[in-house]
Amino acid sequence: MKLLVTGGAGFIGSNFVRYMVKKYPNYQIVNLDLVTYAGNLENLKDIENEPNYTFVQGNIADREFIDRLFEKEQFDYVLNFAAESHVDRSITNPEIFVETNVIGTQVLLDASKKIAVKKYLQVSTDEVYGTLGETGYFTEETPLAPNSPYSASKAGGDLLVRAYHETFDLPVNITRCSNNYGPFHFPEKLIPLMIINALNDKELPVYGDGLNIRDWLHVEDHCQAIDLVLHKGRNGEVYNVGGNNERTNVEIVKTILAQLGKPESLIKYVKDRPGHDRRYAIDATKLTTELGWAPKYTFDTGIEQTIQWYLNNQEWWENIISGEYQDYFKSQYADR
Ligand code: NAD
Ligand code: DAU
Repeated sequence: MKLLVTGGAGFIGSNFVRYMVKKYPNYQIVNLDLVTYAGNLENLKDIENEPNYTFVQGNIADREFIDRLFEKEQFDYVLNFAAESHVDRSITNPEIFVETNVIGTQVLLDASKKIAVKKYLQVSTDEVYGTLGETGYFTEETPLAPNSPYSASKAGGDLLVRAYHETFDLPVNITRCSNNYGPFHFPEKLIPLMIINALNDKELPVYGDGLNIRDWLHVEDHCQAIDLVLHKGRNGEVYNVGGNNERTNVEIVKTILAQLGKPESLIKYVKDRPGHDRRYAIDATKLTTELGWAPKYTFDTGIEQTIQWYLNNQEWWENIISGEYQDYFKSQYADR
């Protein structure tokens, strides 16, 4: 079995590559990643010499390159994690989101069709469903109503995946998961940013009133869900993945401060994100009943493990937050 994992140097992709390399010694796992600002080969240092793992640097939107790679490697499975993933960046620079998340997906679908892969799996997001009010959950039947350039580009990718199944009979699955957290999470996102700022006694910027709700899922539980969908998911189906851990942003921030023994006076309420979705909550019944998925982390055990990981891996995040990251951070929070 030969698997292509795109975006395997990012947060979720690197956790997934590690999970698969260890669990399936007889599979060949090829990680294709452009290594953008969000990609980091340090995430895979511990497995880089494993005999069932190979890394290739390249762009999923580069058709010639992708066609050549697929022709040569004849992958059985393709799993697309590669994406521009940060909502705030999509507000200041939407174009690259369309290029990678829409065009990149289409290039991969064409190449997968040409070599007749056994399955193409698209890793998507609950953000394609838009926002919820105080009640209700996103199911696989919820209409797509994306609100940010990021989620619109992910929805565009999803619609192409669906169309390649309907039109060309390509065997596909789409997974839509809620907010992941855990080791190797890039510190532009809420949880790692707040842990690192708290450790450095810097302000913790909370958008708006801090009462927006996300449904948190530990990245290892997400990896297990993708493994199940890859092997057992019915062709053409969408599967939601969610942790059943709804928390307001300010609750998350206060939990982190309490665990690190830092004062709540570090919290700074700042200008809201434009188009900020109020609440996400996933109904994962289809995944649990059809494929038998069950998360192993509660939010309490997961956040404790995650904070400990950041405490133990200071060099990893210090290398990231020096240099280019500083410029992003200054421009992002300057007018807030
Ligand atoms: P990430 O930003 O940490 O990693 C993205 C990876 O893709 C990076 O390694 C980057 O170098 C690579 N990449 C970007 N553009 C590329 C291109 N053109 N060609 C090849 N590689 C490219 O993202 P993540 O948080 O790990 O998310 C992975 C996937 O999961 C994305 O598709 C995202 O939309 C989806 N998702 C993420 C979350 C979350 O909470 N993080 C939740 C739901 C869905
Ligand atoms: O729901 C899945 C999505 O989760 C994924 O598709 C995205 O790729 C991923 O980035 C994530 O999107 P969010 O916008 O929910 O994540 P983020 O970490 O950027 O923000 C989480 C919440 O915290 C959101 O309500 C905005 C808020 N926030 C974020 C940052 C970075 C703050 O209040 N302050 C901050 O500094």
